[in-house]
Amino acid sequence: MKITFSDSLTADSPRLVARVVDQDTLPSDLPGAIVEGAAASRFTGKKGQVFEGFHEVDGKLVRMALAGAGKTDDEGRIAALEKAGSSLTAKYLTSGESAMVLDLRDAGLDAAGTAAVLTGVRLRGWRWDEYRTKLRDEQKKSLAAVTVVGAPEGTEAVWSEAEAIATGVEFTRELVAEPANIIYPASFVERCEKRFEGTGAEIQVLEEAEMEKLGMHMLLGVGQGSRKDSKLLVIKWMGGKDGEAPTAFVGKGVTFDTGGISIKPGPGMGDMKFDMGGAGAVAGAMLALSLRKAKANVIGVCGLVENMPDGNAQRPGDVVQTMSGQTVEILNTDAEGRLVLGDALTWTQREFSPARIVDLATLTGAMIISLGNEHGGLFSNNDELADQLLQAGKTSGDKLWRMPIGPAYNKLIDSPIADMQNIGPRGAGSITAAQFLGRFIENDTPWAHLDIAGTVWADKPGALWDKGATGYGVRLLDNFIRDTAEG
Ligand code: BES
Ligand code: MN
Ligand code: ZN
Repeated sequence: MKITFSDSLTADSPRLVARVVDQDTLPSDLPGAIVEGAAASRFTGKKGQVFEGFHEVDGKLVRMALAGAGKTDDEGRIAALEKAGSSLTAKYLTSGESAMVLDLRDAGLDAAGTAAVLTGVRLRGWRWDEYRTKLRDEQKKSLAAVTVVGAPEGTEAVWSEAEAIATGVEFTRELVAEPANIIYPASFVERCEKRFEGTGAEIQVLEEAEMEKLGMHMLLGVGQGSRKDSKLLVIKWMGGKDGEAPTAFVGKGVTFDTGGISIKPGPGMGDMKFDMGGAGAVAGAMLALSLRKAKANVIGVCGLVENMPDGNAQRPGDVVQTMSGQTVEILNTDAEGRLVLGDALTWTQREFSPARIVDLATLTGAMIISLGNEHGGLFSNNDELADQLLQAGKTSGDKLWRMPIGPAYNKLIDSPIADMQNIGPRGAGSITAAQFLGRFIENDTPWAHLDIAGTVWADKPGALWDKGATGYGVRLLDNFIRDTAEG
């Protein structure tokens, strides 16, 4: 979607004009036919409402859309403006119209509000049609350009940052939407190498031989049944002060999770192409930060493996050595994300001594049982960090809900033969998974684990996405860095 700004409406009389209107206060300059039509359709400007009417201008029929922004004093004003933008895109994306004028001259929005509308317009317009060669015309995306008229002063600067973030969200969606025969560890790395060219971010890749030397046998064990080599991808953005300890993001990048020898049942297994959603969010967030030149030092680490059953795959009951020196009994090869993250966490701490560390993972099905698709689960050893993330969740729309951890849960993963086992009893499955990760945090480093199993993929269209990959996490992490590490 191409978004451009213009001073006036004159440009060869547009056929589709959209306006954003506040609740119960329709602007006085609307054509009579539109006012009447809106009233007849019970359109009042409520958040998410859209009305379309036709009126004549110089003998030509113009299609006019009104998008409701709700009340100006609403707590969720920014979200409502994003929704106004996204509902316009949802309505016109496949309408046959290729261009829309967004007339904001009377909308009374500031630059931030305008950027919110545009974020909605842009994010709702993303679809992954790469492999759909037989779309009928009416299914094809038609809307390709939006011209904004009457944007307030300063909008372009605010939008250029918001646009960077939207680009990050779209990159995450792309990585998550791609099937596992296309995105596997090596191709995930390649796609990042291409995408980060010219951004100023630095990319580093650890191959299997090097991880072997470092003693990352727990991570490597997950990938040992796969023909695809495991990789550890590091994306560094050092836009902050020299010598300031970085924030680290660590993502679970299981490019496909069959469960391994503890193989998953067939129905729904295809969903497990999105088991790299944590790594995808880390890559997208790093892209957003580097495109908007964030004034912060941030390290993104992606643990990339494929979990397959095979003659060489690890077995339930195996005991593995970890980089941390601790040993782990693998009781279920399907609880593999924590194995990948454990070694990635150790390496990240030893390599970068981060000031705080946030990991993101589609870690447990139990998380979906707890929170459904509305919130990601937040687990943390540090209340301040937890509160900062909860706050970033609220302002970004990538919502989080805090879950408990503690010694009573921790002892549920003690093993009779090794230092710990990779699963607990049936109950509290998301918490015991978090406890497992917590055993790899050193020196009480402030750490948070985000279990995003329920939020990376949507079965139905949402506020800012069509069904499919949501891009969850990018706006959250960007907001978090903005609030805590910049300025
Ligand atoms: N990737 C899955 C978790 C998952 C399931 C994410 C469904 C999204 C949707 C993870 O690797 C897994 O298989 N977890 C097991 C853990 C169990 C064996 C303790 C689970 O949730 O069943
Ligand atoms: Mn699994
Ligand atoms: Zn998994």
